[in-house]
Amino acid sequence: MSLNTEELVIENLDKTFTVGDRQINALQCINLTVRTGEFVNIIGPSGCGKSTLLRCIAGFEKPSNGRVKLGGEEIKGPGIDRMMVFQDFDQLFPWYTVLDNIIFALKVTKMGASKAERTEMAHYYLKLVGLTGFEKFYPHQLSGGMKQRVAIARALSVQPRILLMDEPFGSLDAITRSALQEELIRIWTKTKVTIIFVTHNIEEAIILGDQIMILEANPGRVKKIVNNPLARPRSPEATDFSLIWEEIHTLLGFKGREQAEEKSLTRLFKEERKLSLLTHI
Ligand SMILES: Nc1ncnc2c1ncn2[C@@H]1O[C@H](COP(=O)(O)OP(=O)(O)OP(=O)(O)O)[C@@H](O)[C@H]1O
Ligand SMILES: [Mg+2]
Repeated sequence: MSLNTEELVIENLDKTFTVGDRQINALQCINLTVRTGEFVNIIGPSGCGKSTLLRCIAGFEKPSNGRVKLGGEEIKGPGIDRMMVFQDFDQLFPWYTVLDNIIFALKVTKMGASKAERTEMAHYYLKLVGLTGFEKFYPHQLSGGMKQRVAIARALSVQPRILLMDEPFGSLDAITRSALQEELIRIWTKTKVTIIFVTHNIEEAIILGDQIMILEANPGRVKKIVNNPLARPRSPEATDFSLIWEEIHTLLGFKGREQAEEKSLTRLFKEERKLSLLTHI
C-alpha cells in the first residue's frame, strides 16, 4: 500500500443519540479523509463527540447518517483491522502477565500459527515499546506509562490497519506524556500504522499530527482541519510551532489562560527532563 492511498474516508457522518425524549446531536456532517500511514489528531472541548467519532470508526456505533469507509469498504461493525487504546490504566487483564496479555490478544484474534509463534510475536511487540525485561510483571506492578505501553503493544500485535487512540496519555504526568509522545512517533515510523489520536492538549496534537481536526460542540462538528507542515521531530520552542499553537488555541475559542499555562508547564517539564536521567516510565 502506498502512502497516498485513501485509507479511511468519513462521509457526511451524523450521530444522534436518543435519551428519553431528548435528541443529542453528538456529531453533525463530519467529513475526513485519512491516507495510509497518516497520523491524525482530533481535538475539541469535552462532549464535542471525539470518542463517539472513534467509536463509529471502530464500528461500536453505527452512524445515524453518512458512512465510514476503510479501504473503500463501508464499516459495518468492529474488526481487528481497527484496534483501540484508551485513557484508562485498567484496560489490561489484571490476572495475566504483560506477556500473556499480548499472547491472549493474539490467540483470540487467531494470529500466529502456534503458541511458540505467538510468544515470539509478543516478545517482538514488547521490545518495540521498550518493555523487554518486564514480561513476567502483572499490570499492578507497572507504572501508568508502562501500562499504556503494554496497551499499545497489545493493540499493535494484531497488526491493525488503524490504531485508534482515545486520550491514551491523558492521565499521565507531563514528563511521561512527553516521553511517550516521542516513543509513539518512533513506533509509528517503524510500523507505518495509520493512527487516529484524540487529545485535549494542543501541544500534543501539533507534536503528533499530520492533520489536526478541530471539533466544536453542540452539535459536534468540524471547525477546521489544520494541515501540519512541520518537519519531525517537532520542537514546541520553534516559532512556526507557536504559530500553529496560537491558531488552534484561537479556533478552540480559548480566552482564558488554562491551555497557555499547561503549555508553559509542559515546556518546563521538558527542560527538566533533558537534565534528568529517566529510565523506566
Ligand atoms: N451511548 C450514548 N448515549 C447517549 N448519549 C451519548 C452516548 N455516547 C455519547 N453520548 C453523548 O454524545 C456527546 C458526545 O460524547 P463523547 O463522549 O463523544 O464526547 P467527547 O468529545 O469524547 O468528550 P470528552 O472530551 O469529555 O471525552 C455527549 O453529549 C454525550 O452525552
Ligand atoms: Mg471522550
